[in-house]
Amino acid sequence: MDSGSNLLKIARTFGAASSSYDVSARLQRYSGKHLMPWLPNRNDMTVLDLGSGTGFFTDILASRYQHVIGLDISTQMLNYAKAHRNKNIDWIEADAFNLPLQSESVDLIYSNLVIQWFDPLDKAIAEILRVLKPGGLFIFTTLMDGTLEELKTSWAQVDDEKHVNDFKTEQEIKDAITTSQSTMLDHHCKDIVLEYENVLHLAHELKGLGANSVKGKQSKGLAGKQKWQKMTQCYENYQEPSGIYPATYRLFSAQVVKVHE
Ligand SMILES: C[S@@+](CC[C@H](N)C(=O)[O-])C[C@H]1O[C@@H](n2cnc3c(N)ncnc32)[C@H](O)[C@@H]1O
Repeated sequence: MDSGSNLLKIARTFGAASSSYDVSARLQRYSGKHLMPWLPNRNDMTVLDLGSGTGFFTDILASRYQHVIGLDISTQMLNYAKAHRNKNIDWIEADAFNLPLQSESVDLIYSNLVIQWFDPLDKAIAEILRVLKPGGLFIFTTLMDGTLEELKTSWAQVDDEKHVNDFKTEQEIKDAITTSQSTMLDHHCKDIVLEYENVLHLAHELKGLGANSVKGKQSKGLAGKQKWQKMTQCYENYQEPSGIYPATYRLFSAQVVKVHE
């Protein structure tokens, strides 16, 4: 699949999830809040929420900063955000790889659980650094390799198809964000284990988040019923004595500064 049609697929998948997103977004809420201690105290800043989704965090940013822009590739996400969030926010429908913003015009870029969709990541980082002012900050969370390992391992026992997205390793993420123009000031890695009543609950949450778009997988509808049942049987190996099913998300968060040249 070329990168253009892949972007369209991501936009459609997230768009379809826009109305259910806020109730499924346990992970997003946790990770977005995780970034709050890194937010600068100055309020006279231009701030970009990159991949703003339903605008939950854009709203929080707008309560702290003078000029806030929420940018997303999904029309439906933006429509939801426009209807539910602070009226002072500027909403832009655009692709992170081609930001319709002037060079060196933004003080802070906040991005919660978005850059795992960026391919190639270094190209998107170059665009982020283009619009940041020298001394400006890029604060983000993303998912690392090992995320949804239980689901991946369970599917691997059924067939050779790819059912779960691949995520970058910690080193690959660090390499992409550390450039001649940028330095990583701080970072954290944290495993978050969410609990599910059953595997269907996990699948619904991933769908509700728009996170069920697997790169390179053609839309063939749901995997066959038998395969699905076999996978859920394999997932039972992870079931805890309390009856819940765990799913692990490996969170990487960092604070990056654009260096003065
Ligand atoms: C998991 S959601 C996170 C939304 C929001 N940041 C939050 O914390 O609730 C990822 C968002 O990134 C957007 N997105 C994915 N690829 C994008 C791209 N290339 N350019 C702009 N937005 C993108 C999706 O449309 C989706 O709204």
